[in-house]
Amino acid sequence: MDSVTFTILRYDPASGQAPHYQDYQVKITKPGMMILDGLNQIRWEQDGSLAYRRSCREGVCGSDGVNVNGVNMLTCVTHVEEVVKNGRLVIQPLPGLPLVKDLVVDLDDFLQKYFTVKPYLITRTPAPDKERLQSPAERKKLDGLYECILCACCSSSCPSYWADPRYLGPSALLNVWRFIEDSRDEGADERLDILDDHHASWRCHTILNCVEACPKGLNPTKAIAGIKKALVNRRF
Ligand code: SF4
Ligand code: SF4
Ligand code: FES
Repeated sequence: MDSVTFTILRYDPASGQAPHYQDYQVKITKPGMMILDGLNQIRWEQDGSLAYRRSCREGVCGSDGVNVNGVNMLTCVTHVEEVVKNGRLVIQPLPGLPLVKDLVVDLDDFLQKYFTVKPYLITRTPAPDKERLQSPAERKKLDGLYECILCACCSSSCPSYWADPRYLGPSALLNVWRFIEDSRDEGADERLDILDDHHASWRCHTILNCVEACPKGLNPTKAIAGIKKALVNRRF
């Protein structure tokens, strides 16, 4: 495979032009080349007007989520050869989020929902002399939760998120469960008050798109099931 066609959805709402797909021929310059390497090649060598986000190149910052051949993913940790079909990658912005330009989406509403669930430790008891300790077993409960990089691949793949603009979405719900599960946190009740709402955990219909989309291998559906169970236990 010497080259691959990158078919990219181009749209600049400020231009007055209709959205359209544009083809670029990308040279495969090394084994294991990432999709981000291809986007950089286009921008640096062919078309400087292409807009996309990236920063860390290591799957840490969460800024480069896009939809490739119908699946949400991070361009910096996905090999071209893993997803190419018939010599082509069709690359679009993350679905269900407002567009800024080309592959750049507006994450304000997504992040606002994250802040709604109070993603920080809430404590009421006086602070100990040193840090608040956890046993190894208590710490282990946070595995599979703390690794979220807020890339939005899950929420933007969720039909409930597309349909209900007020739905908090799988990312915010996974992150709130991370704090409810934290043995040092004392804010579970006020978080559960926020979550006992048709636009919060009850909006999830267990379709599992979010699990398939997460590039970090996390399971928001399991976290949402934990929230629902905690809400039921609290009521009865
Ligand atoms: S399992 Fe729930 S949160 Fe995940 S995609 Fe389906 S409806 Fe959305
Ligand atoms: S749960 Fe996964 S897909 Fe969703 S924002 Fe976090 S890292 Fe991204
Ligand atoms: S560039 Fe940071 S996660 Fe991909």
